[in-house]
Amino acid sequence: MSGWSHRHVLDLASFSREDFAAVLDLAQQFRSLPITGARKLPALQGRLVATLFFEPSTRTRSSFELAAKRLSADVMSFSPSSSSLSKGESVLDTARTYVAMGADVLVVRHRSTGVPQQLALDLQQMGERTVVLNGGDGLHSHPSQGLLDLLTLTRFFSPQHPMPEALQGRRIVIVGDILHSRVARSNLWALTACGADVVLCGPPSLVPEDFAAFVDAPPPGLLKDPVPQRGKISVVRRLEHALPGADAVMTLRLQKERMGQQLLTSLKRYHRDFGLSHERMQLCGEDVPVLHPGPVNRGIELSGSLLDDPRVSLVEEQVRNGVPTRMALLYLMAASESATEASLVSSSS
Ligand code: CP
Repeated sequence: MSGWSHRHVLDLASFSREDFAAVLDLAQQFRSLPITGARKLPALQGRLVATLFFEPSTRTRSSFELAAKRLSADVMSFSPSSSSLSKGESVLDTARTYVAMGADVLVVRHRSTGVPQQLALDLQQMGERTVVLNGGDGLHSHPSQGLLDLLTLTRFFSPQHPMPEALQGRRIVIVGDILHSRVARSNLWALTACGADVVLCGPPSLVPEDFAAFVDAPPPGLLKDPVPQRGKISVVRRLEHALPGADAVMTLRLQKERMGQQLLTSLKRYHRDFGLSHERMQLCGEDVPVLHPGPVNRGIELSGSLLDDPRVSLVEEQVRNGVPTRMALLYLMAASESATEASLVSSSS
């Protein structure tokens, strides 16, 4: 934990393997805590976490709020429809309002790419200590989802020790609407950092060929990749070719709200070509798990019976893992903040 250097958590491109290991280790510890009896840990006592979701959410927002409460933080949530945004207040002024009320952490979701990053920069330039956690921005990044998916996968392969090494050399297939998916982008950084080879599968309109080179250049803003050796990414057009040899399959929601043009001829045809079912999953072999970040379009990305089959579907497990993963993120940020404060006190004394 001493090596944790992320003041804000805005994407996973800048995470090293050690960063992923730190989150997984803590999340596993939080996951092992009994959920009956004394549910709360005092780590964030006296801290204020505000969830600013300018776009709808069920899982991310609730689980960040529950995670903050489990660490004894105070929590404020914000609802765009009943806020002063409707009177023309800007996103930055909204955020500043919560900072003025003492928010230590802002968890921000916005439909436009870059909003959490811009807020973090603006607040920092104003000299504010408040840290920003990205709860999902546009098509760019959904770091806490990428981390909870990583916990789910590493726990599947190594239930007692969910470390990055558990994914080394694994073949992980991601199917569907990669183009519009911030979840896919976060997973690409996370999975390849852990040494997994990722196969992207979908039609050219949703999986452009250049995604194969997604992690080839250093992450944006960095001169050097913090991960010396990443797994490979490939693009495969047919599910029948992608599934054999898969160790896990993740399918993604078709993001109809982000599709500006007609990218699919029909949903029925999409399900026929790319929908997952028990029959399709037989191409992978035995005991290959299916993940989906939710919300699910039942019968489109995967059949209802596959989604509800606990022998194969890790979808509820992903939701369960969201809380300890977000506890780990909040804890690491609070710990690094305390370390900064401690070093400021010692250097000024
Ligand atoms: N996976 C995910 O981000 O779900 P929500 O939109 O419900 O938060």
